Amino acid sequence: MLAGMDRPRTIIEPFRIHAVEPIRITSRKERAAALEEAGWNLFSIHADDVLIDLLTDSGTGAMSRDQWAAIQHGDESYAGSPSWYEFLRSVQELWPLPHVIPTHQGRAAEKILFTVIGGAGKVIPNNTHFDTTRANVEFSGAEAVDLVIAEGRDPAAIHPFKGNMDVAALESLLAERADDVPVVFVTVTNNSGGGQPVSLENLRAVRAVCDRYAKPLFLDACRFAENTWFIKTREAGQADRAIPDIVRDMAALADGMTMSAKKDGLANIGGWLAVRDDRLAEQCRNMLILTEGFPTYGGLAGRDLEAIAQGLREVVDEDYLRYRIRSTAYLGEALAAAGVPLVQPFGGHAIYLDARALLPHIPPLEYPGQALAVALYLEGGIRGCEIGTVMFGRHPDGSETPAAMDLVRLAIPRRTYTQSHVDYVIEVVTAVAGGAAGLRGYRIADEPPALRHFTARFEPLG
Ligand SMILES: Cc1ncc(COP(=O)(O)O)c(C=O)c1O
Repeated sequence: MLAGMDRPRTIIEPFRIHAVEPIRITSRKERAAALEEAGWNLFSIHADDVLIDLLTDSGTGAMSRDQWAAIQHGDESYAGSPSWYEFLRSVQELWPLPHVIPTHQGRAAEKILFTVIGGAGKVIPNNTHFDTTRANVEFSGAEAVDLVIAEGRDPAAIHPFKGNMDVAALESLLAERADDVPVVFVTVTNNSGGGQPVSLENLRAVRAVCDRYAKPLFLDACRFAENTWFIKTREAGQADRAIPDIVRDMAALADGMTMSAKKDGLANIGGWLAVRDDRLAEQCRNMLILTEGFPTYGGLAGRDLEAIAQGLREVVDEDYLRYRIRSTAYLGEALAAAGVPLVQPFGGHAIYLDARALLPHIPPLEYPGQALAVALYLEGGIRGCEIGTVMFGRHPDGSETPAAMDLVRLAIPRRTYTQSHVDYVIEVVTAVAGGAAGLRGYRIADEPPALRHFTARFEPLG
């Protein structure tokens, strides 16, 4: 090998393309018509009318040859399928929690857990609740409280672990209302706060507070592998450790977890709830049987369990994680160099555009994130996702206030797009940012009582 080539500068995709999906190229006129029909809600656009779909990294990744092969091993026995045992082995290899309860996706795990431990008068702290987590907590009648560190609320603040929990704030919540807190949650990485990681040190400090108040600590572990890569590359003393060992350190600190296998399970569907406590497990399994299915398949087919089992083996591969985190940063670095305001440092699975900073002339209650997301679709067929006042502004009492930030998330599906796709995204976002002064806000014409961002209809203002 040439001198200096042991670790080449160019980080390549550690795979070749094995099957391709066509992308339909649309015109601006077609996209304008699609937007009007969709009530300017990007969730209502036909995916065929999207060129580069960065709506979510959830379930949208490409599965590997070995995952497709594993699907052929899917055993659809109702009870005790070998695919269940394969899944269980693979989950517990990384997360040695005694009770694993398979669900059709992450929110089903949340629904089961909060139905059992939530309820009126309860309060659930988290670094930042993801929208489905918050909705499930609130649907149970409990209160969802976000306690991320101050840097995590400031899109421009630089901190290696911006997803960390504010341990002092957690301590004072527990000092005041310990009886009302059934569980403490930490989301790794912190999706709603910009895909930012949480350090092992912070998890240990949170654990110590939980121990003082005898409270269980649960992880919302959707992006545990990406979080682990940040621990390995940013946290003192972790650089030489194997990724699975760091994952098991996180697991050792937790009493339970909720998981969406659509993220770091590298699968298109699936999830699980895992807990240490026998009685809680029994209560959750009873709920599982009511809403999802028998405990050895939950909401999944045997083939899905196999795909997840294989995905979990692949997601902790260092070459994969190096490429994954680097390719997200590639998009962020180019946009930052073009002067587009972004959440920094870059998260693991997505780049978050700071719409409130880019569009200061659009007040939060006229939804600057929505305005930017719609413009990216109109100009370039790129579908991102508003994470701001549309998603979080409406409260259970019916009131509406600005969210902490108005962001547009460009989530990168795993192993799906190439560098030239990303170069196209850079070109479109830069052009839209250049014309930001001409963008106008929106009003909501129609919205459902919960999770309004999925189905609300908008109207452009002005
Ligand atoms: C942090 C976090 N928690 C929970 C969920 C819910 O998972 P699912 O979409 O599988 O229901 C998501 C999904 O995006 C997430 O990002």
